[in-house]
Amino acid sequence: MNLTSRPVRKISGEVICPGDKSISQRILIIGALLNCNIKISGFLNAQDPLSTMSALNQIGALINKDSNLVEIKKRSRPFNTSKSPIYLGNSGTGIRLLTGFISGLNLKATLIGDESLSQRPMLRVVDPLVKMGKKISTNDGKTPIKIKGGSIIKNFEYQMPIASAQVKSSLILASLSSGNCIKIKEPKVTRDHTEKMIEYCGGKIDIQNSSEGKIITLHKSNFSDISSYEVVGDFSSAAFIIVAALISKKSKILIKNVGLNATRIGLLEVLLEMNANIKIVNRRKTCNEICGDLIVESSDLEGIELSDSIIPNIIDEIPILSIAACFAEGKTIIKNASELKVKESNRLKATSDGLEALNIKHDVLDDGLIIYGQNSDVAASKEIDSFGDHRIAMSFLVAGLRSKDGVVIKNCKNIETSFPSFCNTMNDLGMKIYE
Ligand code: S3P
Repeated sequence: MNLTSRPVRKISGEVICPGDKSISQRILIIGALLNCNIKISGFLNAQDPLSTMSALNQIGALINKDSNLVEIKKRSRPFNTSKSPIYLGNSGTGIRLLTGFISGLNLKATLIGDESLSQRPMLRVVDPLVKMGKKISTNDGKTPIKIKGGSIIKNFEYQMPIASAQVKSSLILASLSSGNCIKIKEPKVTRDHTEKMIEYCGGKIDIQNSSEGKIITLHKSNFSDISSYEVVGDFSSAAFIIVAALISKKSKILIKNVGLNATRIGLLEVLLEMNANIKIVNRRKTCNEICGDLIVESSDLEGIELSDSIIPNIIDEIPILSIAACFAEGKTIIKNASELKVKESNRLKATSDGLEALNIKHDVLDDGLIIYGQNSDVAASKEIDSFGDHRIAMSFLVAGLRSKDGVVIKNCKNIETSFPSFCNTMNDLGMKIYE
């Protein structure tokens, strides 16, 4: 599906932020393990969480979705082995977290995904799980992941070689579902929703800050039943709306119920440093996660050099930050971001290709980009390929509002994996996006 985004003068109004994708998937997994009746509100009704939901049901979880309410039902039977392969679609979080979770349950399983997921590296979770005692094979480091046997050892200790919340969470879930303890050293801090959710459900998880980074210790825990869980809005989805308001003229918008977990809002810090006019109001805590409402107004942005330590915190927002950088005064320098190459697409290349189509001057580094901002609207010389990557598609659609004659983005179907209401939401604010 190709989408066109036409220029618009301003956007305005208010929106409710769609549910957080990372948290929606985690509550399904941890909720299914708790084994009690849980009503989930604010769940992200999008393809990735739905893939995780059907994968869990395939191994015996009882999760129903009725319009926007998701219910986990208490099981009378233990989890079971699935005879057919477990399909996780486009979801890296789904496949990596469930590889750990299913390993801990001592079930055999084969996990597979779509074309994009089948190209992504899986040894980052498989190698430590093998060290933890599991027998797992892959196809040269890629899917199918075959969990064949073995048991999780007690008190495993692991130092994270890369900054990845998916890997960290996979190992924590393997320990949790096998009833074991684990200690993980995390030199570069990544999103901590798994830790926060375990704590919310009564689990004993300690976090210490040391000179070597975070030390996360999961102890033997007595979990309490929870009857409901409210998922806060996804900051990564809000990011598209924020940048659209910042780069358009005379705009003012209110985004309600945005998750503001400190390990997720690096983009806010970066944009504020770039002179963005963003205010947080109504800050509160929902199910152990900070959230609030954001008021965003058009701003004269200035380019900056990002610090290396912020990169894991903004990794999903770099494509949309690149669009903000196009309309900032001066250059924006992003380095140390080679993880972008192994996301739903090679986001470094996809972003650079898109910038080139928009005739935005930029340099491609081995691990990042230098973008030279311009104050004028962009002129697209060709169609932009999103490479089937939802965040690339949405980023360049946002750029379309500051184009001279509109932009066409190819291959946009996967917007449904994280933000299915994107076009309607943006058009309600005044954008012009259509098929
Ligand atoms: C996620 C972690 C990040 C992020 C992804 C969601 C999660 O991936 O890019 O969109 O839910 O844990 P990595 O762990 O590969 O950095």
